Amino acid sequence: MTTPPWHPYSWQQFATQQQPQYPSDFALQQAVDELSTLPPLVTSWEVEQLKQQLAGAARGEAFLLQGGDCAENFSDCSSRVIVNKLKILLQMSLVLIHGIDKRVIRVGRIAGQYAKPRSAETETIDGITLPSYRGDLVNDIAFTAAARHADPQRLITGYGRAAMTLNHIRALADCGFADLHHPENWDLDFLRHSPLSSEYRRVVADLSHSLHFFERLGGGIDAELNRVQFFTSHEGLHLHYESALTRKTPIRSGYYNLSTHLPWIGFRTADLSGGHIEYFRGIANPIGIKIGPGVTPQWLETAMEQLNPDNEPGKLLFIHRFGAAKIAALLPQILQAVKRSGREVLWICDPMHGNTESTHNGYKTRRFDNILSELEQAFAIHQREGTILGGVHFELTGDDVSECIGGARGLNEHDLERAYKTQVDPRLNYEQALEMAMAIVRIHQQS
Ligand code: PEP
Ligand code: CO
Repeated sequence: MTTPPWHPYSWQQFATQQQPQYPSDFALQQAVDELSTLPPLVTSWEVEQLKQQLAGAARGEAFLLQGGDCAENFSDCSSRVIVNKLKILLQMSLVLIHGIDKRVIRVGRIAGQYAKPRSAETETIDGITLPSYRGDLVNDIAFTAAARHADPQRLITGYGRAAMTLNHIRALADCGFADLHHPENWDLDFLRHSPLSSEYRRVVADLSHSLHFFERLGGGIDAELNRVQFFTSHEGLHLHYESALTRKTPIRSGYYNLSTHLPWIGFRTADLSGGHIEYFRGIANPIGIKIGPGVTPQWLETAMEQLNPDNEPGKLLFIHRFGAAKIAALLPQILQAVKRSGREVLWICDPMHGNTESTHNGYKTRRFDNILSELEQAFAIHQREGTILGGVHFELTGDDVSECIGGARGLNEHDLERAYKTQVDPRLNYEQALEMAMAIVRIHQQS
């Protein structure tokens, strides 16, 4: 069977899951047309640079740290929220660089993580049924008919929020704030009172020492160390948004999704004959795909063939999310199947999405110990199978939330009531996130 020609909207000829129903096709088209005229958010140079770095991670020379909110809200487009998220990712990356002695590629779930897949089309409360909340890119979480209406103008607002967020990240990453000579700029208030403080301080002191040593050796301050590289990612779920920002560039062949550096396909939309795979097969970006229980060797083979036919290094990320209870039984055969195929894949562990549970008082949560256990098992299984775990994918925040149970402060079910802020999945708070980075180092050093 020959494959029909691809273009940014060819996905519309395929069954496409998790797309909102808009009341007016005309209003949707107007928003998409407007979006198509607006400038891209990232460049193909950056995208290609990331791809090269990811190829390094697949060879074990670098490590990917991908993290951020389950769903960003439009109201998260504020200096405090952006800065705190950047700080925690920078701190985690310092701990990792120091402990595993590799370049760390920082990728935020940020500047566009506004659309969410939902398990049900509708939600019923007290006998009233309304469309589900699908993320700020689509509708509003308030439980009223007006709020839950899918509004295409939100695509424009989402693009604007993503642009403002990215603008702030770029300004911060480019000088001053991100200067490796002044990691104290990245301190979050909590650090002073945290049980992790002394370990973190030791890492920073050690790194500063090495930095000064090398600068004395090289006879000056390295301007490169005044800035950090920071990439963006989001789930490429809302295909009208993604297509409208998919562009040809004058200097390279092919199409790039220039709304983000690293878009990924969610677990619920990874249907091999569906619209998402069709859209993703045509873009030049590196692409992630979530894999979990139910995936078969045949599925993997077809996905690799469709999404990376030229077997380009750094192009395809398999982000596995089996859960602590299932990973041991399910991951080895997946790794073996990919190894047999001889194809290039970057393996990433998402220890969050297979470990979600509900407490008896109704909170959706995750246990720190289960997240850690999945990570530990993932590293051990990859080592046994002779494959490389090249990175991790977390849901986390730079704020003091109480959404996941456990960690150094031993948060319990009752603590969840204190600061449970997520509207979708529970995130590691800043302290649990830093602790996770330290745990990765320990696992690495023991292996
Ligand atoms: C997510 O990353 O927020 C998500 C929905 O994950 P998954 O597709 O793996 O369930
Ligand atoms: Co999530």
